[in-house]
This record gives sequence, C-alpha cells and structure tokens, in this order.
Amino acid sequence: MEQKPKGTRDILPNVIRKWHFMEEMARKLAKQYNIDEIRTPTFENETLYNRSVGESSDIVTKEMYTFKDKGGRSLALRPEGTAGVVRAFLENGLFNNAQPTKVFYIANNFRYENTQAGRFREFSQFGVEYFGSQEPIVDAEQIIMASKYLAMLGINNVELQINSIGCPKCRANFNSALREFAHAHKDELCQDCNKRMETNPLRMLDCKNEKCQMVLRQAPKLSDYLCDECKQHFKSVLSILDSRKIKYSINTNLVRGLDYYTKTVFEFVAMLEDKPITVCGGGRYDKLVAEIGGNDVPACGFACGLDRLVYLIDDKMIAPKDFVYIANTPDVSITEVLAVAEVLRSADIAVETNLTNRSFKAQMKYADKICANKVVILGQKEIDSGEFVVKNLRLGSECTMKASDLVKYIKLDSESIKKITKTFSD
Ligand code: HAM
Repeated sequence: MEQKPKGTRDILPNVIRKWHFMEEMARKLAKQYNIDEIRTPTFENETLYNRSVGESSDIVTKEMYTFKDKGGRSLALRPEGTAGVVRAFLENGLFNNAQPTKVFYIANNFRYENTQAGRFREFSQFGVEYFGSQEPIVDAEQIIMASKYLAMLGINNVELQINSIGCPKCRANFNSALREFAHAHKDELCQDCNKRMETNPLRMLDCKNEKCQMVLRQAPKLSDYLCDECKQHFKSVLSILDSRKIKYSINTNLVRGLDYYTKTVFEFVAMLEDKPITVCGGGRYDKLVAEIGGNDVPACGFACGLDRLVYLIDDKMIAPKDFVYIANTPDVSITEVLAVAEVLRSADIAVETNLTNRSFKAQMKYADKICANKVVILGQKEIDSGEFVVKNLRLGSECTMKASDLVKYIKLDSESIKKITKTFSD
C-alpha cells in the first residue's frame, strides 16, 4: 500500500472543522484590521530564498525542497511566506499605492525538518505583512493582532517573548564581540557554529545544539549594543504593549531563524505535551525589500503555525455540525424525498437522505449514529396530509407541523424549539 511521505499528514474530515475554524477566525481578524488577502506561488526561484531567508540559515542550508524543472530552472518549494510576498509587492508595484500595504495569507510551506511533535515537512501558516511604515505602532499592532488571534481560538496559556536585534549599524559591533567570544570557546561549539562564527555569528544564537546553547548563554547580549534609534524604537513598542496590557517577557537570546529581521522580533510560545512550542513568530524587516531589489521600504510581519495551533484548540470551541436527516417510509418514492430535501437545501439547511436503501428503523438508528440534529419523517401519510413530524434528536422532542412551516421550524434554535414543544404538549 502507498504511504504518505514522511512529515506530511492527511487532514481528515473529523478534524477539518478545527481547520475551518482557524481559517475563519484568521479572515475575521484580518477584516477587523482592514487587511486584504494575497496569494503567491507555491514555488519561487531558489535565489529568492537564498537572498531573503539567508544563505547561512538552517532553512536555506538544510531544509529547502529545491528542484530543477524541465527547463533547467532552479526552483524551491515555499519554505515560508514573507519572501514571496516581498517579491510580489515589488514585482506588482504595490509600493505605488498609498502606503502602508497590508496583506495576509493562509498558505502551506515546505521544510525538510526532523519530524517531531508539531514539526512537519509540509505545514500551513496564517501570516500578515505590513509594508511602508517604520513606526513602532506597526510592530505593536501586529503583536496585539497575533495575541488576539490566539485568544479568538481559545488559546490562552501562551507566553509572548520579545527582543530587539537592532539594525545593521548596531549589529556590526555586536557581531565582532560575539565572534571574539566564539573564538575563545571554539572547541565547545559544534561544527556548524564554527562555520557560523565566520559567516553570520548571530545565527549561532539560534543553534539547536544544547551544548552550544549552554556556552552561548554567557555570550555578549545584543541589547547592550543597540544604537539609540533602535533602543528608542524598542522602548516605544513595549510601551504601546503596556498600554494594551499585553504581557511579554524580554528574551535577549531571541534572534529568530531567518536572516532578514531588524529591530523587533517576537515569538508566542505555548506548551504541547509539556514541551514549549513556538506557535507564532515574526518581526520587523526594514532592509529586505531593498535587498530583493526595491527601494528602502520598512516592513514588519508575523506568521502563526496552524498545524501547531490545531492541537491546542479545545473541542468545545467547535460548534457541533447542524444537519437534518430525512427518514422515509418504503411507500415514499425517491422523487418525493428529493423534492423535500431540495426545498430544505435551497433554504441553506444541510440535509442527508437515505442513500443506501436502509429500512425505516435502520435509518432512525443511522441518523442517531451520525448525530443528525433533527429527523424529518416522511411517509405517504405526511405527504397526503401536508403535515410533517420532526424529531429533535438533541432535545429528544417531537413536533408536528404544516409543510409550509418546516423550513422555519428547522431553522429555530434549541431554546425556541423547547418553548414550541412545550406549547404543543400543553
Ligand atoms: P517561522 O518562525 O519560521 O517564521 O515560522 C512561523 C511559525 O510557523 C512558527 O512559529 C511555527 O508555529 C510554524 N512552523 C514553522 N516551521 C514549522 C514546521 N516545520 N512544522 C509546523 N509548523 C512550523 C516565518 O516563517 C516568518 N516568515 C514569519 C514572518 C512573517 N516574519 C515576518 N513576517
């Protein structure tokens, strides 16, 4: 039997409602902030990611799905959403519109990662990117938005970690200090870090090797090297968060795994199976648009990992399915069942009928098993009299009504039905 590739998953109908919920809340949130959707290709020229995510990042060096197409072009499956959005912003001249440009996306990404809880080779993100403002309100608005998204999903036990990694100006001094520290601890650091210390010392702080992490805890802190402008920017972001009572902890080791960040970086960390897991990450990237070939356009964004969030959503957040089953007696023709079903469906009521020629008794059992809310009983007697019996399986009640009242009754909520049922039985 064929099996799915390692690190991929089938999202089956029993969990798809959680996905719909996450997507629905993402669109609702984006609407609240007046953000439009953008869709970019699933694959791009490989060079785009080398230039943006970074030649020395784990994503580019180890995790990208690259391939040559039949025309010999070097392409890569999207490992993250930001680079493609920046390319689209430039290629389509969105910078000519009144700024800021604000976009969101819900898209799948591909990284050749070691699979473990919450880490997959194909995964989806809900991401937001703003272009054209360097103001701290942008960083703060996005953090507020991300924390609101988690709250909308009913996920409360999350820690916001935040840091500033400065601009190229202050980072140059920090890099020299970090490089000096790393040279002194050369033998205690892994092979990758020994390379990183020459090419991109900041990447060492992101090393997944625990021994390296221990050594680097003693390394110089970027916060001590920030220039006045970066310090002020960070202070302003934090004070806006304070004014909205958003709790955060400053993590001076937080650098994020992608090379394009400047100034603010942040992550929301939740607990999954007693282990911390990052469910959302983002930050400012003021130099990326220019690096990809545009003018200097400041930008900021974040992305939430939907495959991780789905584990944290309580079943109670998902409204039960609401549909009707039409149980027909054998004397009723398929045409008559269909006629009633289509009237209800046209009124936006979800309807299932007897598709497997079950007996009436078996249909009632089946309706119960698949958790239908209501069953419309359709016998020749009902068709002749124009009066229908509707059983409410959730409430265990039953009501007889005229055909013309059927749609109205089925659409009533449980409370109203309880009242009507009481009136009928009085
Ligand atoms: P990232 O931190 O690489 O940032 O990914 C964002 C989120 O995607 C992570 O916090 C995590 O929840 C989820 N994620 C990442 N890798 C995996 C995986 N292998 N399996 C499951 N979930 C995963 C970015 O991608 C940036 N583009 C975010 C950003 C947008 N920064 C600015 N704008």
